[in-house]
Amino acid sequence: MANWKNNAFINQLIDLTETVWFNPDTLPFAEATKGIALSRADVEDAAARLERFRPYIEKVFPETEASEGMIESPLRHIPYMKSALSEYFRTQLSGELLLKCDSELPISGSIKARGGIYEVLNHAEKLALGAELLSESDDYSKLDSEEFKHFFSKHAIAVGSTGNLGLSIGIISAQLGFSVTVHMSADARQWKKDMLRSKGVHVIEYDSDYSTAVAEGRKQAATNPYCYFIDDENSVTLFLGYAVAAERLKQQLEEKNITVDADHPLFVYLPCGVGGGPGGVAFGLKLVFGDNVHCFFAEPTRSPAMLIGLYTGLHDAVSVQDFGIDNKTVADGLAVGRPSGFVGKTMQHMIDGTFTVSDDTMFKLLTMLTDSEGIKLEPSALAGMSGIVHMHNHREYIQQHNLQDTMPSATHIAWGTGGSMVPDEEMQKYYETGAALLKKT
Ligand SMILES: Cc1ncc(COP(=O)(O)O)c(C=O)c1O
Repeated sequence: MANWKNNAFINQLIDLTETVWFNPDTLPFAEATKGIALSRADVEDAAARLERFRPYIEKVFPETEASEGMIESPLRHIPYMKSALSEYFRTQLSGELLLKCDSELPISGSIKARGGIYEVLNHAEKLALGAELLSESDDYSKLDSEEFKHFFSKHAIAVGSTGNLGLSIGIISAQLGFSVTVHMSADARQWKKDMLRSKGVHVIEYDSDYSTAVAEGRKQAATNPYCYFIDDENSVTLFLGYAVAAERLKQQLEEKNITVDADHPLFVYLPCGVGGGPGGVAFGLKLVFGDNVHCFFAEPTRSPAMLIGLYTGLHDAVSVQDFGIDNKTVADGLAVGRPSGFVGKTMQHMIDGTFTVSDDTMFKLLTMLTDSEGIKLEPSALAGMSGIVHMHNHREYIQQHNLQDTMPSATHIAWGTGGSMVPDEEMQKYYETGAALLKKT
């Protein structure tokens, strides 16, 4: 570690300077996937499982009636935000800017409704198939019954979380009938804990950060043979649940007549905490669009865990705290000090880069998005919003990939990872903080 402390790039992160990093180790997609155990077939298997559960989801979560039990979010053009960014950052921006509104995902209002709910469904299906209570050809709405609730009540589920994963897993687990415990880090917002408790979820609070909540959860779960621990730091199942988003995004782009090919590159900016959500989505996107999609993680300046892991190649053997960075950020969903080793190693030749964003910038972007488009996101979900600006200001990536001529026909997607369930009062405070910061600049 001592060697890295003299490294100029690491020092920039220690100084909490907003930083853009392009990954020097990316490989063409076909090569990058060679050492990876996961494939398109695994993502298709996850998508098929979610299909089987649609009748159940539609039945127990009426907000999914319109989508017939599919947990999916809209993709929206945000041209006024593009103009606002252009003006604020004084940069001419070409191409289209869209927002993937995972903030509007049904059931738990964040990207965590993808992987988190998927892993619980996967576990429930395995148990029910194993007990011969269910077969894959059944109408899964039968899971909404006293018989199944009684069966699942003999099993427990546990997870460690900064808030949104716990919300997703808690809600679906309680609905199925599991006994569920969520180990919440100090970052978790009070309303998320209150909401879970109101649904009968056992919430344990810690004074420390996410890594401690996960470690404690793992330890406690190990004492109960009927308890299934959802391991956000290492779970392949979570990762695959997120990856399903890609094929659906492809359909949404087609519906909007947006082409993605060598002449029409797609840039996607993903807020990153431990890495499972953004890693899974990026992996899925690379499977679908290959080298025509360019994926970037976005992290808070105070929690650049994945960036440090990727840059040093140390992955989960290093934490931001090792460098004296405090992991204290308003972006509670991204307040992770030690990245997932599984995600870092899986994505090390695939992820195109990472940039860091200060809390002040996230607040300002939050207010700008509300004013320009009337869309409200939580601070974490704004982390990727300045990606389009970086692509225009840091031309080396564009030049290296020979994308200069394609920039006018490029599509940029900021992944808006959460926010629709934030209570109005809390959202108003975020907005006012951003407005005050914008006034000063
Ligand atoms: C709103 C939001 N965005 C992004 C993330 C990042 O996901 P991950 O921790 O899987 O990297 C989270 C995680 O909780 C989140 O809550």
